[in-house]
Amino acid sequence: MRILKIIFLSIVVLGLIFSVAFAAKHLPEERGKALFENPKFAGGVKSCNECHPGGRGLEKAADKKEFNIMGKTQKSLEEAVNFCIVHANKGKAIAVDSPDMKDMVAYIKSLKGKAPAPKKPGY
Ligand code: HEC
Repeated sequence: MRILKIIFLSIVVLGLIFSVAFAAKHLPEERGKALFENPKFAGGVKSCNECHPGGRGLEKAADKKEFNIMGKTQKSLEEAVNFCIVHANKGKAIAVDSPDMKDMVAYIKSLKGKAPAPKKPGY
């Protein structure tokens, strides 16, 4: 019986270690990256990553005050994200202060200073 107890306790301890390690990995920008790569994000039909592979073309977005997307001007990063959700992903705009928007913005900000955007992004 003792060995069973030891096995049981080891499983519990291992479980705790793994869940802590797992939770620590889930930073906002990592959650945002997962949303960025999810074709079903915000009810859309394709992922952001299909047009912005690896975040390409968004390296300067974190510092911009105005965005020109498909001939329309957006006044904030959140508006730019929602514009792409609606017009590119064919999904539904999400609340500017929602956790998903915060994670997405954190991911886009994390792209700052990464490899420079190519002349023609992947779209
Ligand atoms: C169908 C292709 C397509 C998809 C899918 C798409 N985008 Fe875009 N996105 C564009 C185009 C085109 C622009 C215009 C800017 C340019 O020409 O670089 C743009 C611009 C942006 C910008 C502004 C970049 C800047 O620096 O001006 C942001 C931010 C952005 N997209 C985020 C997203 C996010 C987040 C998603 C997913 C929800 C997404 N996009 C999905 C095509 C797409």
